[in-house]
Amino acid sequence: MTSAGRKRVLSGITATGRLHIGNYIGAISLWADNQDQYENFLFVADLHALTIPEVVAGESLRARAEEIIALYIACGIDPDLSTLFVQSDVPEHAQLGWLMICATPVSWLERSTQFKTKGKIADVDAGVGAGLLCYPALQAADILMYDADYVPVGEDQHQHVEMTRDIARRFNSLFGGTTFKVPDVLARGPGSRIMGLDDPTAKMSKSVAARQPGHAVALLDPPDRARKAIMRAVTDSQPAVSFDAPLAPGVDNLLTILECLTGTTRAHSRERFDGARYGALKDAVADVVAERLTGIQARYREITDDRPRLARLLTQGAERARAIAARKLAQAYRACGLRSPARHYHGLPFAGSAKDRP
Ligand code: TYM
Repeated sequence: MTSAGRKRVLSGITATGRLHIGNYIGAISLWADNQDQYENFLFVADLHALTIPEVVAGESLRARAEEIIALYIACGIDPDLSTLFVQSDVPEHAQLGWLMICATPVSWLERSTQFKTKGKIADVDAGVGAGLLCYPALQAADILMYDADYVPVGEDQHQHVEMTRDIARRFNSLFGGTTFKVPDVLARGPGSRIMGLDDPTAKMSKSVAARQPGHAVALLDPPDRARKAIMRAVTDSQPAVSFDAPLAPGVDNLLTILECLTGTTRAHSRERFDGARYGALKDAVADVVAERLTGIQARYREITDDRPRLARLLTQGAERARAIAARKLAQAYRACGLRSPARHYHGLPFAGSAKDRP
């Protein structure tokens, strides 16, 4: 709980690939829905993007991070209600990340599903980097830094939040005291795992979308391209939607997308689509998705047209985040028996209280 009495939320998106409707439904729209209720810290994980250097080498990670922040706002995140920042602008994340790495058994890291699957995607001769293995420890630093009560994420990230809880408990028991608050997942329920349009047995993913057109709808795709991808989505071999038998994964996925975007229930879909041809379902989904993208993209253009405002927002966001991060880092250093970190970093004034000063 924060001083304002509101529960605190922290979440983020890695700056690899283009954001898609799975990210929007499973994460961003959940943040937007809850922003009045919670104190939100929302960031772009650009340091995490470096865990697969082969994918991001030669790109401007900064430009990507700014694109994602602009998309957060375009998707309805109000920068007056939420603190928006880029991870690398808050150097305390990397510093606390090291303490987290030291407090995390390798066996926990090796069990990470993301380590196993992304390791394969990276497909590099030299083998995956140590950063990919340590990825969940940096993620734990992101979350624990802010005493987050809740972490709103899609289903694929639940394992990482679970590990964050374990790391918090381990650090607290190793170094004594209650340095870190143990956070909970905040999940959407249906919609926390949107599947690929071309293969509804696999999660919609940024990295797969980069290789397979038709896999995902990106938030910045032209609406008519999005419409085509949905009309081509894999459903099943039956001629019409039937709720009498278990739904095919592709049909279930389209219904879930529609229900999440329109705020309707499965019972409502059943009434509307039982016996309908797949073309009618796809048309309905395509209309809703195209309309949502059109709105998001119009706002995105407004935001990116005013670069100085975006830059100001990011500076303010980083300052607000650092005011909290510096205090927590100092507390964690002291718990480890270290001296509190130096008073000034990168020209920004030390933001902690007098008692945290070295
Ligand atoms: P990332 O960038 O893979 O995904 C960002 C968010 O989108 C959700 N998501 C989905 N939800 C529903 N259906 C899908 N197909 C789908 N694909 C992705 C993810 O669950 C996530 O909520 N490790 C994180 C970034 C991160 C982070 C953090 C998140 C770094 N530090 C601290 C929360 C807190 C990641 O790579 O998410």
